[in-house]
Amino acid sequence: MITDALARAAAMLRGATRITILTGAGVSAASGIPTFRGADGLWRKVRSETLATAEAFENDPKLVWEWYDWRRGMIRGAVPNTAHDVLARWTRERPGVTLITQNVDGLHERAGSERLIRLHGSIWHLRCWQRCNEGRRDWLDETAPLPTLPPRCPYCNGLARPGVVWFGESLDPAVVEAATNATACDVFMTVGTSAVVYPAAGLVQHAKRRGAATIEVNTEPTEASRLVDVAILGRAEEVLPALSAG
Ligand code: APR
Repeated sequence: MITDALARAAAMLRGATRITILTGAGVSAASGIPTFRGADGLWRKVRSETLATAEAFENDPKLVWEWYDWRRGMIRGAVPNTAHDVLARWTRERPGVTLITQNVDGLHERAGSERLIRLHGSIWHLRCWQRCNEGRRDWLDETAPLPTLPPRCPYCNGLARPGVVWFGESLDPAVVEAATNATACDVFMTVGTSAVVYPAAGLVQHAKRRGAATIEVNTEPTEASRLVDVAILGRAEEVLPALSAG
């Protein structure tokens, strides 16, 4: 599977020291995790504002948790695919590789990725909804299914919420700063993201302005395709091993 775009991208990656990769739901598609906006995407089945906002949680925390518990169960049954494995190996073998993900599924971590920046949090972490002192820091809870819905804060017994960034919420400033700093690189590559959700979707422009060569890997054209130097149409689980061999 050698195309001109693939050969150009492989040459860029070979000649680079600082490489930053931004991933989205498309990277986990081959692990059986539905994307958000694809044909069978989650947001095609449910309205995001009814399940992934603070207002939705305020209205019906049990309904929101039923959905997140279902997703945790599905992710628990999944395994990292070759795309996750290749990226994990790159982070282990090349100190200049930084991985930024929008995914909350934990599959990059399970593949052994290092230097991972999680923009949208983690579905395996919980946080106190009342923001009690101890509970405002996320805690890890990988129980699937959760014994009680909604789960409670172990510190104040108030409601616990998923440790993810919901629509209308701002990202952790320290995480945004780390991601923005990582745009100072030789090559910035996006993999499996529709490039419509900000601030993540703005990082490729940022990197380009700072002189980075830019690459996109996606099964279909996106908002970012016209501004990157090389757009590769293909599946991450096939393209990344080919790039790695390139
Ligand atoms: N390989 C590469 N790309 C793929 C694959 C694959 N195997 N399968 C699907 N894709 C592409 C789709 O074409 C689409 O452009 O992955 C992209 C997934 O886009 P979205 O579903 O919009 O997911 P993402 O970009 O990660 O969403 C961003 O939006 O819903 C919120 O917080 C949520 O983090 C998420 C954010």
